[in-house]
Amino acid sequence: MTIPEYPKSIYPRLRLAVSMPTVDNVRKLQPLSYAELGCYHGATTIEIAKVLPPEATIYLFDYADTVAIANRAIQKATGRVPVCYGNSCKLRDSYCWSLGLLIDDGTVRFDYVFIDGAHTWDVDGFAFFLVDKLLSPGGHIEFHDCRWRLSGSKRLNPTAFPLTQEFYTPQQIRSRQVKMIVNRLVRPHPDYEEVIRGRLFRKIGNGAAAAE
Ligand SMILES: C[S@@+](CC[C@H](N)C(=O)[O-])C[C@H]1O[C@@H](n2cnc3c(N)ncnc32)[C@H](O)[C@@H]1O
Repeated sequence: MTIPEYPKSIYPRLRLAVSMPTVDNVRKLQPLSYAELGCYHGATTIEIAKVLPPEATIYLFDYADTVAIANRAIQKATGRVPVCYGNSCKLRDSYCWSLGLLIDDGTVRFDYVFIDGAHTWDVDGFAFFLVDKLLSPGGHIEFHDCRWRLSGSKRLNPTAFPLTQEFYTPQQIRSRQVKMIVNRLVRPHPDYEEVIRGRLFRKIGNGAAAAE
């Protein structure tokens, strides 16, 4: 198989609804730093920006071309200036690389992280590990959708998006990979409590348990 090059995001064009549970959670919790892993064109972030405290910082992660679109849309709609981290469109690149650079930097902490990017075991399982290192005690991680799977996705199912079967096995295409991350990594983690079933988790420890 010839691996195609990706000068631009290969992610199919989407028409996405705002994630209202995320907006409601953020309105209630009032985090001072909000990060979205996979922001697409910023539909949810625009609504989040309207309910965040004025002094809060928004951190956005996506492919560089995509995050640039979200950045412009958010500034235009709300006047807020998000801090943007764009990764390349190389086949194996993701926001996990940007998160690694932030760990090196050591100055950024998140209070709320919405993980709504790849929805896959390899990318988002590792993203959970990295986010944990950047999340303040008492902070929250939200996963977008535990029921989601590639085979059920309107845009990413193998018929609509043939590369899906080049990238994943039939079992992986059928599997609910976000649910696997929640069940295998987040629920058993001693530093996290489940606040909204399968969706919102609060960091109750200071990370010491993970380091043991
Ligand atoms: C479902 S959309 C995000 C929707 C957005 N959170 C909203 O509510 O409007 C998923 C996003 O994840 C991004 N994504 C998927 N895989 C990625 C990767 N490997 N690196 C960076 N971004 C990725 C896609 O580009 C897309 O914008």
